[in-house]
Amino acid sequence: MSKQYQQDNLIGQSNALLEVLEHVSKIAPLSKPVLIIGERGTGKELIAERLHYLSARWDQSFIKLNCSSLSENLLESELFGHESGAFTGAKGKHEGRFERADGGTLFLDELANTSGLIQEKLLRVIEYGEFERVGGSKTVQSDVRLICAANEDLPALADSGEFRADLLDRLAFDVITLPPLRSRTEDIMPLAEHFAVSMARQLGLDYFGGFGAIAIEQLMMHNWPGNIRELKNVVERSVYREGSDGQEIDRIILDPFASPYRPMSRVKTRERQAAPVEVTATQTNTDTKSNDDTHSGHHGIEFPINFKEYTENAEIDLLQKALAEGQYNQKKTADLLGLSYHQLRGILKKYNLLDKS
Ligand SMILES: Nc1ncnc2c1ncn2[C@@H]1O[C@H](COP(=O)(O)OP(=O)(O)OP(=O)(O)O)[C@@H](O)[C@H]1O
Ligand SMILES: [Mg+2]
Repeated sequence: MSKQYQQDNLIGQSNALLEVLEHVSKIAPLSKPVLIIGERGTGKELIAERLHYLSARWDQSFIKLNCSSLSENLLESELFGHESGAFTGAKGKHEGRFERADGGTLFLDELANTSGLIQEKLLRVIEYGEFERVGGSKTVQSDVRLICAANEDLPALADSGEFRADLLDRLAFDVITLPPLRSRTEDIMPLAEHFAVSMARQLGLDYFGGFGAIAIEQLMMHNWPGNIRELKNVVERSVYREGSDGQEIDRIILDPFASPYRPMSRVKTRERQAAPVEVTATQTNTDTKSNDDTHSGHHGIEFPINFKEYTENAEIDLLQKALAEGQYNQKKTADLLGLSYHQLRGILKKYNLLDKS
């Protein structure tokens, strides 16, 4: 999968992105550590790959590891390797990522929550280029360019003692901060077109028929908390559902769960009322580890939402129901909605629904 995105598949023309790319080209040739900071889905992994392929190490290995998915022990042996018999079940010698990336680049994703032990060992590799395998005493040398990524505020974690300040200093020789999609809206349509065209190709469609005016407005107005990954998903879903053979996409389905029949989360509401103690526990939990910024209340709406888009969708929905009820007679439909004929025509026109009624 990742091979597909090497180099030139980085789409975008906003100044914010161009500045980042310039920054990347400048720091890429150095062997110094780089820290990439950005919300989820902003393209941190793509940028890490680009740093590698623009460096003198481009023909050596690019090795990655997600640090948040492993326990401390597993992470230690994945990073530094282990000697045979280092712990129960350790059969034979195992080369860690630092050894495998020798001469190349090691990308450590989601570094923020690593333990003190791991952080200490990392600091030493960065300072001296050496470490010991787990269960071993022989010192191993490795020449690795380290790129790390996090979607948390590392300086704040360092201030509160959750991340080693000296390690942060070393990792942050240079820091690349990726702007969220909502602050580079010029990139939305080029990215959407790109994802739509490749989805159409994947589906074996002859061509992609483009986005209609309402769809474009929806794409432009959405806040994109999940950034480019969310945009990719949303566009692929729309092409798959509505783009069969060159048909223009009229509307974007931002939330696949959206439905007037969506069940309310009644169970949760009752739990909240009956067991305040548990609520506190859940909240503490969310505070420490969540990177999920949606809030679901007892009203069945997931916040944050885009007010304009939500109400527009509700209007379109209501218009369509009223039109059906009025057998697509505009006078009858206007009466059903308490509108004048001309008012109704105006609203239908706004939503591009005139020819369909
Ligand atoms: N500028 C871009 N052009 C094209 N595709 C992009 C761009 N930026 C990101 N993507 C795509 O968006 C998706 C998310 O990117 P990536 O995995 O690099 O984000 P991330 O910041 O590492 O996310 P997370 O924090 O969730 O790991 C990927 O499919 C990636 O290919
Ligand atoms: Mg990532």
